[in-house]
Amino acid sequence: MPEAIKVLRAAGAGFEFEEFDVNADAYLRTGVAIPDDTWKHVAAADAILFGAVGDPRLPDAAYLAGVLLRLRFELDLYVNLRPARLYDDRLSPLRRDDRRQVDLMIVRENTEGLYVGMGGRFKKGTDQEVAIQEDLNTYLGVTRIIEHAFGIAKREVVMIDKSNAMTFAGGLWQERWKAISATHPNVMARHLLVDAAAMQLVKDPTQFEVIVTGNLFGDILSDLTAELVGGMGVAPSANINPSSGRGLFEPVHGTAPDIAGKGLVNPVGAILSAAMMVKHLGVPDMANAIEGAVESAIRARECTRDIGGELSTSQAGDAIVKRLRD
Ligand code: IPM
Ligand code: MN
Repeated sequence: MPEAIKVLRAAGAGFEFEEFDVNADAYLRTGVAIPDDTWKHVAAADAILFGAVGDPRLPDAAYLAGVLLRLRFELDLYVNLRPARLYDDRLSPLRRDDRRQVDLMIVRENTEGLYVGMGGRFKKGTDQEVAIQEDLNTYLGVTRIIEHAFGIAKREVVMIDKSNAMTFAGGLWQERWKAISATHPNVMARHLLVDAAAMQLVKDPTQFEVIVTGNLFGDILSDLTAELVGGMGVAPSANINPSSGRGLFEPVHGTAPDIAGKGLVNPVGAILSAAMMVKHLGVPDMANAIEGAVESAIRARECTRDIGGELSTSQAGDAIVKRLRD
């Protein structure tokens, strides 16, 4: 996050930053994930720049639910944009050169699906235990995310579900998909089942422009697409509500506890998330300048080791800052 802020400053962003102490240490100390006072400030901010969440000392999901999922749900940040763009050929794990023009966007539904925390465990800890996890899909939720995907696509939207096996949720997605795609005759509409989509993403990711899908499939496929363009270290995301203007911007990766604090972490995911924030706040030129500087630094191998450079986290940030100043 310090690298992202450094880059924003170098790009000329005149934002006021307010920092909040939301982290596992504070949670372990107080038992509160986001204190009320912090929540008030955060919920009122023009945008939230979010580091990452997760700590080996907190293996249960309560902390995640109290921080990231609470922000997504309570601020109703229903669009999760997860772009995957290949900045340099060498970062592609795919063998064939013609499979390397990756530039796609996953539009992940971010407030429903299997993430809502409905369900329960009955007769827990016995050999008669029953565990139920509900997959919640609403007409409004499915409608607005599919509409958003069509709103940003120029050529084609691919909708991904598992409607051959999950017929209730899939049925609603299919109905909304057919109705909404019919109102966008200038954008092609294609449907894929999630298993086939996983295969196609590896076989030829260049075929995709915009993908729209539910919360869980979007989570899974966006790790896959990150790996197609250099790995978790470079993947950004935007969690937004286009109606209210609320937005939370975060790298797709977690806290990487095995390498945290060693100067090895790739700052690009956070920096590109900051660029998405700038774009959301209405300064697309600045966002493009940041993205261009990132691309140039990566191509020059002025980056961290995970993507073929030798720089530390802060040196990699400096390499991007330098390009913004030139
Ligand atoms: C992500 C993360 C989160 C998710 C976790 C931390 C709950 O994996 O943002 O992709 O599954 O949405
Ligand atoms: Mn994830």
